[in-house]
Amino acid sequence: MLLWLFIHIVITPQTIEQITNRIDVIDVVGEFVKLKKRGANYLGLCPFHNEKSPSFTVSPSKEIYKCFGCGKSGNTITFLMEHEKYTYVEALKWLAQRYNIELQETEVTDETRTVQLAAESLHALNNFAQKFFSEQLLNTEEGQSNALTYLEERGYNLSTIEKFQVGYNPVQKNSFATAALQQQFSSEILLKSGLVVNRNDELVDNYRGRIIFPIHNTTGKIIGFGARVIGNADKAPKYINTPENEIYIKSKILYGAYFARHSIDKANECLLVEGYTDVISLQQAGIENVVASGGTSLTADQLRIVKKYTGNLTIIYDGDAAGIKAALRGLDMALEEGLNVKLLLIPDKEDPDSYVKKVGSVAFNKFISQHKKDFILFQSEILLKEAGNDISKKNDAVNIIAETISKLNRAEDFTKRQEYIHQCTTILKIDESGLINLVNKFSNNHFVKEEKKNFVAEKQAEASSDGKIIFYPDDAQEKNVMRVLLEYGLNKWDDEQTIADYIFEALEQFRFDNTELEHLYEVYQKQYQQGLQPTAKSLLYQENEKIKSLVVNVTMFPFELSQRWDEKLENIKVSNLDTSIADVTMSLYYFKLRKLKKMFEQNQDDMQQSKNWNETMRFMEIHKHLKGIEREITQQLGTVIIK
Ligand code: GTP
Ligand code: MN
Repeated sequence: MLLWLFIHIVITPQTIEQITNRIDVIDVVGEFVKLKKRGANYLGLCPFHNEKSPSFTVSPSKEIYKCFGCGKSGNTITFLMEHEKYTYVEALKWLAQRYNIELQETEVTDETRTVQLAAESLHALNNFAQKFFSEQLLNTEEGQSNALTYLEERGYNLSTIEKFQVGYNPVQKNSFATAALQQQFSSEILLKSGLVVNRNDELVDNYRGRIIFPIHNTTGKIIGFGARVIGNADKAPKYINTPENEIYIKSKILYGAYFARHSIDKANECLLVEGYTDVISLQQAGIENVVASGGTSLTADQLRIVKKYTGNLTIIYDGDAAGIKAALRGLDMALEEGLNVKLLLIPDKEDPDSYVKKVGSVAFNKFISQHKKDFILFQSEILLKEAGNDISKKNDAVNIIAETISKLNRAEDFTKRQEYIHQCTTILKIDESGLINLVNKFSNNHFVKEEKKNFVAEKQAEASSDGKIIFYPDDAQEKNVMRVLLEYGLNKWDDEQTIADYIFEALEQFRFDNTELEHLYEVYQKQYQQGLQPTAKSLLYQENEKIKSLVVNVTMFPFELSQRWDEKLENIKVSNLDTSIADVTMSLYYFKLRKLKKMFEQNQDDMQQSKNWNETMRFMEIHKHLKGIEREITQQLGTVIIK
């Protein structure tokens, strides 16, 4: 049994504090999500769900993020944990490395960490493997004569090979397995990585005699490999790829994205090809905004990676018409994602790799810009050509196209949609109003389906008891009081007491209806009374998930559901009043008004059910009393706001 697998690192509290002090949420999240400044916050496309318009918001001052679409929220550390699948400790280590903070570590053995370490071990193993394979390719006799010569014959130069970290796995049955075992990698991890397989109780190399293409994630870490036979593949499969494991998730991989991301951003266009060698050749030719799908149809996750960098996707096909037709069906999804999809075919049985080598980068670029065709028009032409004179096939084609056009259902795509309908009418030689009707029919179906889905989702959300916090409009006032407590609690109310003291006193007679908020209020109160000086930030760096999620919910966007009096405050000169005091005052007023309203309702109910005159009179008295308090508050509210 290997010992190091059971060792886990404890980072000292001092180091954690050092790290959390240095955290820049925009810098860290911005590494993975393209963010644009919007007022005090930053906005981007949510990396946790598919969306067309950005609703993922990051607040630099509060050091938190929240997505309005899917509701995911948290701080820098939870972001790394969610997005990179890091553990808490790994996230801290990542940050420490980024900010050059030395880790003071204590080693503690812990058997339960084995599972969590799989991802880390795979990364480590892949790193080791890449170095091993590169060494074999470049610095051994066998590698040079078998593999390097082949790569050079195909026109790849040394700097390209080094950039993509291409390597070679020797023919001998276990040269890699032996080296890895010597490095104390466990057989379990070796098997999981796919680099090694078990043959008759012996660990042998899986990619023997193959050229190795490492596959990187968007942050440059090696998550797996593609291994190609040298020369023609007759018996064996041409490529073998890493099996799915903790870090190699096929549907989320776009080969080359790490090397292409900045160029895609700059060119505002992403070229999509099929193979590893296509990417590498185009990069070598100076066409750097290129990624590969690995020959399978595109997934939503892959499209999301593209969308992080650009709204323009150009797909380069080299297959035959049948293959292309199948691939096209999957592309409706890209339209729904709001991507501009263009397509083109590489002629004469060439692929991008061979074609760019044949014509050079200038002609290649020119060919692309001249021949790329809008997805819908491209599809129309292909389907029409295929249908020929067959009426029913043509009918099918019209339906497919109408359905595709119906996927352009965002408000900003309206003009585009009109334009497509117009052009397709011409191509298909059909009546324009007929096509409009057909498109609308598909749209409506789609809309009804979505609504149903939303409805079901809402119902499920309401019923959820898995720790997710749902705020109903009723909670707005409670949430708001919690917000001012977190935000200003430690400030002075006057010379005698803090704002926290004041709020506790004011709410002595009241309770929160939302039990989650009540809990947070109590946690705050307890910490405060222990002299711990709680703030949103200090609560956010605690381990309790529920508390963290609540704090984010409360502090990030307090006014999703109620009116924004803090915005009003900015425009009103409140003489002699610190805005925090006014904010607190009003939050408490609204809180109490809301409670009053409930009391009114309750009282009304009671009154209706009263059995005798005396009872009714009593409820009328209560009503009057409540009215009095209400009037007092609304008057005070008026003076505070208007003064
Ligand atoms: P070269 O023939 O070296 O130019 O590779 P290529 O990338 O052009 O291969 P091709 O166009 O035939 O296939 C495109 C992509 O599909 C490859 O890059 C692989 O990701 C994948 N692929 C091709 N053949 C196989 C195979 O036999 N098995 C698996 N798993 N994937 C394959
Ligand atoms: Mn090829």
